[in-house]
Amino acid sequence: MTQTFDITAVRAAFPALALTDAGQPRRYFDAPAGTQVAGRVMDAMRDAMLHACANDGGAFRTSQAASAIVDAAHAGAAALFNCAADEIVYGLNTTSLFYAFAAMISRDWAPGDEIVLTRMDHDANVSPWLQAAADRQVTVKWLEWDKETFEFRYDRLDALLGPRTRLVAVGQASNYLGTINDVARVCAAARAVGAISVVDAVQSTPHIAIDVQAIGCDLLCASAYKFFGPHAAILYLSRAMQARLRPWKVRPSVEAMPTRFSPGTPSFEAQAGTLAAIEHFAWIGSRFGGAAVDAPLRQRITAGFDAITTYETDLMRQFLSGLAAIPGVTLHGIGNANRLASRVPTFTFTMAGRDAPAIVQGLADRNIFAWAGYYYAWEPAGVLGLRDGPGAVRVGLSHYNSADEVTALLAALAELAG
Ligand SMILES: Cc1ncc(COP(=O)(O)O)c(C=O)c1O
Repeated sequence: MTQTFDITAVRAAFPALALTDAGQPRRYFDAPAGTQVAGRVMDAMRDAMLHACANDGGAFRTSQAASAIVDAAHAGAAALFNCAADEIVYGLNTTSLFYAFAAMISRDWAPGDEIVLTRMDHDANVSPWLQAAADRQVTVKWLEWDKETFEFRYDRLDALLGPRTRLVAVGQASNYLGTINDVARVCAAARAVGAISVVDAVQSTPHIAIDVQAIGCDLLCASAYKFFGPHAAILYLSRAMQARLRPWKVRPSVEAMPTRFSPGTPSFEAQAGTLAAIEHFAWIGSRFGGAAVDAPLRQRITAGFDAITTYETDLMRQFLSGLAAIPGVTLHGIGNANRLASRVPTFTFTMAGRDAPAIVQGLADRNIFAWAGYYYAWEPAGVLGLRDGPGAVRVGLSHYNSADEVTALLAALAELAG
């Protein structure tokens, strides 16, 4: 039987949520920049450093423990993305993985080739491809978004693609607008012209179940520190792409995955922590999503996301109706309560007569954590004219935030609006 989402139990899974400063609770609304870490993640990383402190692949106990972490962490990431374990690459972060793969993918680009980037993406999914294109005299085309709907101009997609298109890079959820994009549609269009499709799933992974098979992409990346884990990233690299790409690698390293695309010694502790973060979703799924505790990991994960989405939708509704009541606020993203399935709970807004840095300072003074600026969302902030100058306030809700915290945030914003 499905138990209702017990926010007290969920919050107890995150030790940092209990921290106070001079008796004042910490209220974390900075999740789009980085989430708090689940306690099981901390335990797993400590265990890895205690029991598996060796290179993997050896005959002795600690080395075998490191090998077991690598196997389990790749299987876990595969369950998160719905792919095979040998289609997973661990890396330091999404930006460095995209730079590494941009170098490999662009090796055979020629002058006159074309790529398609978007005006909505975080710069991690723009600059690596933009700079590779400049090196190879490749033409860059841009998928724009509509300032009324905050959605891509999908009607223009086909016109951007052609026989010379080599790559399309698109974000699944915007770290600025919060929009969830129809990446399956974009990837299908890319595939139809033989182009490689790359999906940035950094902002979607904490909120919705990712399915690379349904998306139909060639690469997809997410950062574990945005989904309750450590500073690490996981990349889906389809077997077809693996066969096409020629990695730079040291001569002694083996051709087999995951070593083929992972130069050097990986962070075993980060892999252990990432697996534990993935298991957090599975825990939610069996505790609140109706999945059996012995159901396959993927099934528990997707049940976890069902529970998270339902809970976060209620929080979004609460936040948006409160925000709408504060005079002078302009929300830069979907605000319609009937369209919440098209967004993640990341809200960027400006307030008439109040600079964003002053607002987040006012929040910080109340021990409420949020960001001001443009968050490396170079293109979308540029479209709105909010890149240069004080920028906008960004508030992110997570499944560990309570309705009481949202009430406190809204009260603080109303005070600061003055
Ligand atoms: C949508 C999106 N893509 C990419 C990144 C960059 O991720 P990383 O810090 O792991 O390189 C971020 C970080 O904020 C992001 O929000």
